[in-house]
This record gives sequence, structure tokens and C-alpha cells, in this order.
Amino acid sequence: MLSETRIVLRNLGRIDPVSVQDYQKQGGYGPLRKALSMKTEEVIAEMKRSGLRGRGGAGFPVWKKWSFTASAQSGQKYVICNADEGEPGTNKDRVILSGDPNSVFEGMAIAAYAVGADRGFLYLRREYPYVAPILDQALENARAEGCLGKNILGSSFSFDIEVISGGGAYVCGEETALIESIEGRRGEPRFKPPYPGVSGLYGRPTVVNNVETLANVPVILQRGGEWFSGIGVPNCTGTKVFTLCGNITQKGVFEYPMGTNLRDIYETHGGVKDNFDLRGFMLGGQSGNLINAGQMDLSMDIDSCQQAESVLGTGTIMVIDDRNDILDIVQNIMSFFIEESCGKCTPCREGNIRILEILRRISGGEGRMEDLTLLEDLAGMMNVACLCGLGQNSSVAVITSLHNFREVYVKAIERGRRA
Ligand SMILES: Cc1cc2nc3c(=O)[nH]c(=O)nc-3n(C[C@H](O)[C@H](O)[C@H](O)COP(=O)(O)O)c2cc1C
Ligand code: SF4
Repeated sequence: MLSETRIVLRNLGRIDPVSVQDYQKQGGYGPLRKALSMKTEEVIAEMKRSGLRGRGGAGFPVWKKWSFTASAQSGQKYVICNADEGEPGTNKDRVILSGDPNSVFEGMAIAAYAVGADRGFLYLRREYPYVAPILDQALENARAEGCLGKNILGSSFSFDIEVISGGGAYVCGEETALIESIEGRRGEPRFKPPYPGVSGLYGRPTVVNNVETLANVPVILQRGGEWFSGIGVPNCTGTKVFTLCGNITQKGVFEYPMGTNLRDIYETHGGVKDNFDLRGFMLGGQSGNLINAGQMDLSMDIDSCQQAESVLGTGTIMVIDDRNDILDIVQNIMSFFIEESCGKCTPCREGNIRILEILRRISGGEGRMEDLTLLEDLAGMMNVACLCGLGQNSSVAVITSLHNFREVYVKAIERGRRA
């Protein structure tokens, strides 16, 4: 049985989320005070020592991202907290923000100090309207206590945060689409480079980090990068906040060290509910991988998942039991991406529709064996030709199910032939 290691979720259930005094009693805003007494490059060096990588899906080293923005020449820089959390089944950012918003504000303020920004935006998923009043109240209280706003904690550093309601689309979580949306345009991804770190919001250098990433930052400043790097696995340090969903006995949001075994997480939380048989897992959200029950001995960290042709992504673990039809699941996922494609580029706009047509043909008994190669070719083309991660990864579930549940496709095609 595992027990949680709570770094990001350290204050959850222990404080009144909007009370800055409660947060301070747990040591909150001490790390910001400490950062303000350091040189900005020392703060970035501490992040480097920690090895912290982004928790929004791509796993980019935080210190590197901050260094790009810190060294960019500009009179105006920004910090954005990405709280769009549009990935179905993922709830960790909502839990962090509604339970301990100051940990994220403090992480943003430390990032801002390190890179030389004085304005921050927290881009909140539109479907989380009930979180907005918590954030507004917590911000007001933090300002009143001198932890945000002008001359923070009596220093010459000023920084404030504005909450922006998201565009209500999955693609708005992509950092450049998010920036377009804050600027008042349709949430469509930009071509990269330039990356936001150099040319982001209003063309200014902008750090974009995920909620969970930022909530780690104060603890790293407080306890040191070396301490943090001792948790997890060598190239993927710290913890991960996992969302357990689907048909598992104990659903919810739980924090374990990077590199924790998937089997241990699954068993600790009671396995499949109601004594059905485990069929597999959907890992990392809808753009993630479908793996079968036999693949469950997997180290849950960014690199190990990648090496095993899987993905950690947002850390979502959806449990699938033997009542669930894999072909239904992948069709559902493709319908989601057809709905969410912004339509800017043809391979995504058209490719998702073509893939769904083939899947429907197979499950409707009209499939051909050649369809399996066609699916792989189409998905491979989309992976290289689509402009953003939505189209590049929308068919990962199809590809991984073709590898890990191939018999399902073959059976459906053979059944159709016999009929
Ligand atoms: C289609 C799409 C949706 C995304 N949605 C989110 C999201 O909801 N939250 C998030 O933090 N990152 C999301 N990302 C990743 C962001 O573009 C970006 O990499 C991330 O916010 C960087 O933060 P990090 O370095 O702290 O992980 C998404 C990417 C793509 C391609
Ligand atoms: S890949 Fe899809 S979501 Fe991304 S820019 Fe192209 S059409 Fe839009």
C-alpha cells in the first residue's frame, strides 16, 4: 500500500483556501521573501538544482523556460498560469486552485521576480466558474497583506495577478492559443518559433506554466532544489499529482513521487470497482495512450512512460474494465477531437473526421484489414503535419489501441466478413 507524498497538495484540507493568514501560518510567502533576498539568477539556479519539469504535459525544464524570458530584452514581461485544464478526466488543477490558491500565486510571483515580470494572468478554465470567486477573494486578501501588488513584502518588487476566464475550448490550453485568447482573438495556436518565452503575450517575453508546476515552486525555494531532486527518479524529480478516474474503487486526486509504479497506484486505490475484470488504462488524458492490463508494471514518470511508448501527460489514469468496448472508446475520443479542432490546419480538421469514418466502418462490420494500415498512415501523417499538439496527438489512442488491443479490431473485421 502506498502512502502519499504531499508537496503540491501540502495544505489541502488544512487551511481556509482564501485566508492568506492560514497560508502564512503554514510557512506561505516565506519562500517569496527568501527569493526577494536572492539575485534573480540564484533563484533560477535553485530551480535548475531541483530538476523541476513542467506538469502541463510536455515536461519542459522550468529553469530553462525561465532563463529564456529572463535573458530576453524587454521593458515588459508577463507570467501566465495555465489553468485551462480541458483534458477530460483531469481535475488536479481545479483541486489545487480551489484548495490552496496562494501556493500558485506565490509560485507566479517567484517566477515573475526571476524573469523580471510585473504582471501575471491566471487563465481559468471557463467550465470552472465556481473557482473564480475563491481566486478573487484569495487575491484580494493576499494584496491586503502586502503579498501581491505594489512593493511586495516591503521590497521594491511589484507584481499583480488578473484572473481571465478561458475561451471554453480544449485548444485554448495550448499556450499560444491561450495567449491569442487573452489578447481577445479566437483561440487558435500560433506557429512556433518564436516561443512565448521570447515573444508571447502582446509580443512580449512571457512565461507560461501549469498550475501544478507553479505550486511546486515555493516549496523548492523553501527546502532547496537539492532536497526536491532527491524525490522521484533522476531525470524526473519531485512528485506528480494523479487523477484517478474511470471504474476504479477510489477515484480522486492523489500525489505520489515521480516513478511510482502504476500497478501500486492501481492496487492502493482498490482496483476495479464491483469485481469486474481489468481491461486496461487510458493514460495522460484523451490525447494519451491506451494500454492493456498486462502493461501495468510501468514507472509513472515522463521518460519511462515515453520509453515504454506510453505517456504521463497530465497524470490522468482512467481505469477500463471488461464491460468497456475499446472501439467505442476510441470513437468517442475522435468525436471529441473533431469537436475541439480549431480548424486552422487541414490535416487536423479533415484527418480526425476521416479516422472516425474508418473506425465506424470497422465497428459497423464493414471494415477491411487494409483499414488498419490506413489508420496508421493517417495518424502518422497527422503527427508530423498538424500545427499543434491537439492534431499531433489526437489519434494516439487509435494507434496505441491498434498495438495493444489489435485483436479487437481484427475480431470486428472478421465478424463483419462472416455476416
Ligand atoms: C491542445 C493542447 C491543450 C493543452 N492544454 C493545457 C492545459 O489545459 N493546461 C496546461 O497547463 N497545459 C496545457 N497544454 C500545454 C501548454 O501548451 C504548455 O506546454 C504548458 O502550459 C506549459 O506549462 P508547463 O511547462 O508548466 O507544463 C496544452 C497543449 C496542447 C497542445
Ligand atoms: S492541429 Fe488542430 S487544433 Fe491545432 S492548429 Fe491545427 S486545426 Fe487547430
